[in-house]
Amino acid sequence: MRLLNGLLLLPTVLRTAIAYSTLSDDSLRTIPSAGADFDIKTGAILAPILQPRVPGTPGSTAVLEHLADFFRNNLPKWKVSFQNSTSTTPLSNGREVPFHNLIATRDPPWIDREGEVGRLALVAHYDSLIHPTGFIGAIDSAAPCAMLLHAARSIDDALTRKWEAMQAEAESSDFSGLEMDEHKGVQILLLDGEEAFQSWTDTDSLYGARAMAEEWEQTVYAASSTYSTPLASIDLFVLLDLLGSPNPTVPSYFKTTHWAYQHMADLEFSLRRLGLFKSAPAKDPDRPSAVDDQFFLHEAGKADTDQWLGGYIGDDHLPFMARGVEVLHLIPAPFPRVWHKIDDDGEHLDMNTVEDWALLTTAFAAEWLELEGFMTADGGGKVRERDEL
Ligand SMILES: *[C@@H]1O[C@H](CO)[C@@H](O)[C@H](O)[C@H]1NC(C)=O
Ligand SMILES: [Zn+2]
Repeated sequence: MRLLNGLLLLPTVLRTAIAYSTLSDDSLRTIPSAGADFDIKTGAILAPILQPRVPGTPGSTAVLEHLADFFRNNLPKWKVSFQNSTSTTPLSNGREVPFHNLIATRDPPWIDREGEVGRLALVAHYDSLIHPTGFIGAIDSAAPCAMLLHAARSIDDALTRKWEAMQAEAESSDFSGLEMDEHKGVQILLLDGEEAFQSWTDTDSLYGARAMAEEWEQTVYAASSTYSTPLASIDLFVLLDLLGSPNPTVPSYFKTTHWAYQHMADLEFSLRRLGLFKSAPAKDPDRPSAVDDQFFLHEAGKADTDQWLGGYIGDDHLPFMARGVEVLHLIPAPFPRVWHKIDDDGEHLDMNTVEDWALLTTAFAAEWLELEGFMTADGGGKVRERDEL
């Protein structure tokens, strides 16, 4: 691996000069659907998340365990770690409430020290709102967490194939044919304590995200590193929230990441054109402007002079954005009808929409990680039961 280590010293300009290549229709067709794993009663991925999971309660512990076990049992190449903190809340009477963020990371296998890999961070919160009693938070954000687990497993095999091919190439030759932008990893961040306990304020909300952003800014890598901190290693922070109700419309919130929004909108267009979307198919995919409003991402054509809502929605991206992280926020505006209501439960999810978001998120991650040529139809697959391991 000496040759690859040598690569780590290449200047940044070489790594960023590579064009963003899009996924082919054939690759899009290989992305598996979550199918039965998203069943709200019996699904191996989604069902266990659909329970109250207020920080510091047994439901929270059980769900965190489920999320971590998913990676440990199905995706052993992902490194699972936690970022923990405690805080009092307006309801805790001075007691410290624990918050546990889960981090699942997959980096190229030749990366042997921190600070040498930039990552796509795919993010959702797994805690649920404390009131009304029994609140499930299916769109907020059990379903987004499930989408991220499905995306992780759906790109796992292609990542392995791609990185093995690169290593083989690097070992067998001068690495003239090797692409130079390959120190790209991926990270799933499942955050705790997003919800306020009493009412949303700067200190009563975003408990997990605030603790993580602060810690990750203060963890400084060796001076010779390409990236200075874990926070600086985040190339793009893609936050999913309130997804799973029918007919979502997600604006492009930030000018600085509109290019990423456009890539995702292009993917949505392709997936609909190929008949791979299950929800409300657009009538005429050859005339996108005529059906613009039916797209989840309906603002691909937005102009600089249009209204940009960035900054108006409080969510887990804020502590990261305040520290310079680039954010793509996937949250519908207006919020879905069930938002913070007792009927935000499994029964009120629109499963076609949930599956479509999972597919779109997977496609976006696969394209970002440049998996074209490495996607095959046997990728992903069923969640393995413990006794199969
Ligand atoms: C953080 O919390 C998790 C879950 O309870 C635990 O497994 C882990 O050991 C803790 N990590 C640290 C560094 O304290
Ligand atoms: Zn909420």
